[in-house]
Amino acid sequence: MTSRTANLDFDRSLTQRVQVVNETLDRLLAGQKEIPEDLRKALQYTLSSPGKRIRSALVLWCCELTGGKSTANAQLAAAAIEMVHTYSLVHDDLPAMDDDDLRRGRPTCHKAFDEATAILTGDGLLTLAFEILADGVDDSLLAVGLIRELAQAAGPAGMIAGQVADLNAENTVGTVETLEYIHTNKTAKMFRCAGRMGALCGRANAEQLETLGRYGLKIGLGFQIADDILDVSASSEQLGKTAGKDVAAAKCTYPAVVGIEKARELERTLAQEAVALLEPFGAGADILRRLAVVLLDRNK
Ligand code: IPE
Ligand code: IPE
Ligand code: MG
Ligand code: MG
Ligand code: MG
Repeated sequence: MTSRTANLDFDRSLTQRVQVVNETLDRLLAGQKEIPEDLRKALQYTLSSPGKRIRSALVLWCCELTGGKSTANAQLAAAAIEMVHTYSLVHDDLPAMDDDDLRRGRPTCHKAFDEATAILTGDGLLTLAFEILADGVDDSLLAVGLIRELAQAAGPAGMIAGQVADLNAENTVGTVETLEYIHTNKTAKMFRCAGRMGALCGRANAEQLETLGRYGLKIGLGFQIADDILDVSASSEQLGKTAGKDVAAAKCTYPAVVGIEKARELERTLAQEAVALLEPFGAGADILRRLAVVLLDRNK
């Protein structure tokens, strides 16, 4: 297969999954009849903005790989991780954090509405993610497993720990150890979570669960390195968020600490290591192999 054909296949596969995730998010929000109208507007604005949906697609792909097909439970898990990720961006953009005006090509939630609404929209998304898992997953043991994974990845020993460290590291001379800690926690653990949630939905065995989690952690670390590189190399139009913010805020990033060339090298190594982990899955994991490579060349 030529790499052009492989890219087309990948794009088609991602587009289909994005559609499923978007429809699921719409349906779940519409099903919440008692949300006050002004809050619903902010939730809708935030959830319908054009994110890449990589974490949620990863949930679906990992379920398909291990279980042979996507399931209604996997769709809920995909929507749940997307809600938590989206909440994290709404709060990340707040003036007390990264103070950003642009997200996914649109004004950030606190700019389109106001700060209090953005805080509460984030709170609402985070809570709703767990409600839909508890409520919708048709096997209570699986529901608890998914809730555990998501809570651990997003919680104070995961994404929140990473966000705290990210803010504390502003204006400091970062080390590679600090960087790895920040990036692993604020970003990579959510990718590990996506791999593991998908595997749980696909009824994977313990080894597959572990492997897809490790794969997720590697591409997730690479994903945040790419995000740091794009911040210094791409335009705001291309990114749909303000470029050059990391230097302006003196963030501890890979380009700042090790330089852009070394950062690119590390990203490639992580992608290779991620691909190597997929060996036991054979050709069925081709889409995940492609994902690791595509993320290296992403331009937004
Ligand atoms: C942005 O994530 C925040 C990071 C962890 C780098 P994405 O680049 O996945 O953002 P969306 O969801 O596509 O907007
Ligand atoms: C955000 O990292 C990570 C989380 C939201 C958990 P960044 O602050 O680098 O993300 P962007 O660049 O604003 O999307
Ligand atoms: Mg941040
Ligand atoms: Mg930010
Ligand atoms: Mg960034």
